[in-house]
Formats: sequence, structure tokens, C-alpha cells
Amino acid sequence: MLGEWRDQGNRSGSAGLAAGIRLLMFDGQLPPGTTLPAERELAAALGVSRTLVATAWDLLREDGLIVSRRGSGSRTTLPATPANAPFQERNQPLDLATAAPGALPGVGVAVDAVRAAFAVELSNHGYLGYGLNVLRERLADRFTARGLPTTPDQVLVTNGAHHALALVLRAMAGPGDRVLVEQPTYNNALEAIRSAHAIPVPVPMPEQGWDLEGVDVVLRQAAPRLAYMIVDFHNPTGRRLDAAGREQLAAILRRARTPVVIDETLVELDLDGNPLDGPPPMGSFEPGLVITVGSASKSHWGGLRLGWIRASDEIIGRLAASRRAFDLGSPVFEQLVLAQLYADPEPLLRERRAEMAATRHVMVDALREHCPTWSFEIPRGGLSLWCELPEPIGTRLAVAAQSVGVRLAPASRFSAHGGLDRWLRLPYTLPAPLLTEAVRRLAGVAAVVTGSPGTLGSDGLIPVA
Ligand SMILES: Cc1ncc(COP(=O)(O)O)c(C=O)c1O
Repeated sequence: MLGEWRDQGNRSGSAGLAAGIRLLMFDGQLPPGTTLPAERELAAALGVSRTLVATAWDLLREDGLIVSRRGSGSRTTLPATPANAPFQERNQPLDLATAAPGALPGVGVAVDAVRAAFAVELSNHGYLGYGLNVLRERLADRFTARGLPTTPDQVLVTNGAHHALALVLRAMAGPGDRVLVEQPTYNNALEAIRSAHAIPVPVPMPEQGWDLEGVDVVLRQAAPRLAYMIVDFHNPTGRRLDAAGREQLAAILRRARTPVVIDETLVELDLDGNPLDGPPPMGSFEPGLVITVGSASKSHWGGLRLGWIRASDEIIGRLAASRRAFDLGSPVFEQLVLAQLYADPEPLLRERRAEMAATRHVMVDALREHCPTWSFEIPRGGLSLWCELPEPIGTRLAVAAQSVGVRLAPASRFSAHGGLDRWLRLPYTLPAPLLTEAVRRLAGVAAVVTGSPGTLGSDGLIPVA
């Protein structure tokens, strides 16, 4: 799990090892309560001295990240944050690991606007297995406006797109089943597939667009039970499949009769145009096999925790029935808020697109100034840049970036089989001044990681102003 943990910068080996463990913890791969290997055992496995491991453990103990008991070894734990710590200290570092913007003020306005409707709902029982009717109607209208005629019966409201995928996996893929995915793909989708005990089968994305012939081959040779694809501002590459590609993909899926989950979480984030003028939804090319999942998280706010599934009424019925085993519907208040936002969605969506186009511009400028050797294509939409680094330093960069208060998601997380160390996903969802500062710090760290001289301060530390 530690991979390339050794720093080539100015840290000692023990600090590098501690940083590697810290990354695994922040990355969720070592949850709190995990028992760490004994010092002697780890030293032997890594080919280092026992003192080096013991010093690394000391550093982690000082940070409050592990606790050790004589006789029972060391366990990971969460550091306690004093309630009276200043806000700055308690606050998270600059987060370039999460591609999600805060809400626009219009979301707060919608909250105020639905109070009367909420009072009416209070007299009902509040269990809405399929979702609030007015919301299902408005989401159906949005699909219809985008070119996929939809009735409210074909919409199931969920607690986000991720929940939607988990529901589909539960209903349609069992242990040992293969699920076709793009490589790279959205990291949490891989987690969901694995936790359903299914096996992700990756189709690598070529330098541009999609390898649809590769999809065809995998569908024929690996006979996956299901496919999962993001054809609208793909996370993490930002690509969009054009109408001709969708037509071709639909024909391939039809031949193999493989159902596909199309994740439209980012579809409204067309930063250079209007999604109403974009290629029609994948579902309009193959209504029988396509199950569309969508979300309010990126267009409006992740804290609403609302998404949806659009499929045939028969599949929606099946999914609603299987959902009952583990949850009984989404919160009514948030659904009213989202229904309000979708009563006239254009103004706020336009504002969101303009906001993200501006931060994309800031990120591009900052990278060109501070990281001129990193290459990327400016994506037409979505929330992040997919950068190619001049050397395979992605994981080491993610570890070292913590020391300057920047969180990164190593690209290996977006891959079914690890690797991708030459790549980095950089979301542009932080406010503009923080984005520039984060890139400036990253440039300093990258110079240290690659061993370029002249970037360290006289004290041997990375200068962080
Ligand atoms: C492609 C994709 N799908 C799903 C999600 C999760 O969405 P939600 O917050 O609606 O669960 C994200 C969030 O980053 C995403 O990028």
C-alpha cells in the first residue's frame, strides 16, 4: 500500500514513511482503528532499519494519528481537534482532492421560498420511496428538454448519484460479476463496484476521446454484467462524447445486450455552452439498456445529497423495491428545495457555469505561470483539469503536498489497477485566490520532489507565504 513512499527531497526516511502512512489515512485506505504492522515486521518488509520505523511511529504519535499500547502494537486513530482551536487551524488544508464547489446564494433563496410548501408536507408521513412528485416531474421535464422524452414514472429520486449507482449495482450486479469501466474513472464508482464484490474491467481511454472499439472487444470477450460510463465531462478527464460517438456506443451495447449506467453528474457543467444545445442524453440513443444517474451535487450543492435515476418504469420499479431493504427515501425538505431550483433552472445553472468557467481560467493561468512543464487540455466542461506531469511523481507529490497544506487525490485512485503516476486531477472548485495559492505551493513541492535545485529556502524548507 505504501508504494513509492521514499522522499527524494530533504526529509529523512522516517519522515517520508510517516508521510506515506499519513496519506493512506487521509485517503481513507487506512481507516481509524487499523492495526499497523509491528515495527520489526514492517522494517523487514521495507528493507529499512527498525529505528527508522520507530521514528516514523513517533512522528505519527506526535501528530495524534496513531496510538500504541505495550503488547498490542499501534493503531491508527483520529487526532483530537481542540474545540477552541482558531478557525484557521481547525480548517481543512487547501483541498484539491475534492471536485465540488460550494452552493451559490440562489440555493439559500430556494430554502426560504419552500417554507410554506414544507408546512403542507408536514401533514403527510414523509416516506417517499420514489421521491417527491413535483421534483420527479421537473427532473423529467429537464430530461425531455435535453432530448430524452421522460415521464415522472421513469424517475427515482436518490440520495445523490453515488447512492444511485450503489442501488443499480445492488439490483443488477452480484459477487464475481464484471463491470466495464473507463480507465481512468470516478474513484468512488470503483469503490462501489468493489464493495458489491464485482470486478471492474477497465477500458483505457486513448489520448483523445474514447476507445469504442476497445469497449466492443471487452463487451464481447469479458461479457460484463453491466457497464459504467461518464460521457458528459468525464471525471477525471473532462471529455464529452459527441453524438456520433453516442450512436456508435449505443450500437455496440445493443449488440452485446449489456445494460450501462451513464453517470450524468457533470452534464450541466458545460462551461462553453448550454447543455440544452449539447449532444442528446445517451438514453435517447438506446432507451432500453441505458440507466441514467444524475445529481444536484455539482450543479447546485453536494450538501443537498440528492440525485436521481432515469430508466424505464419497469427498472425504476425494481430499483425502488430493492432500495427498501436499506433505505426508505430521501429527505422531503431538500427535495422541495431542489424542486424549487428546477422550477426555473436556467438562471442559476448559467451562474454556476460562469463561476466555474472563471475558476477554470484562473487554474489554467496559475498552472501556465507556476507549472509550465505540466500539460493538459482545457476541458469544455466539468470541474477539473487532467494534467500530465513531466515525470511519474503523482503519489510522491500527493504525500509531499500535505506538508504545505494542500490535499491532492493521487491519480492511482481513478484507476482500477493503480498506476497513472504521471497524471494529476486538479479541480478548479476552490475560490480563485485559494486556487492560485494552491498551485504556487504545488509548484514548490514538485520542484523538491523532482530534485530541481534552487527552490528551497535557506532553511532547507519549501517557502510557503
Ligand atoms: C462522476 C461522478 N459521479 C458521482 C459523483 C457523486 O455524486 P453525488 O454527490 O451526487 O453522490 C461525483 C462526485 O464527484 C462524480 O464526479
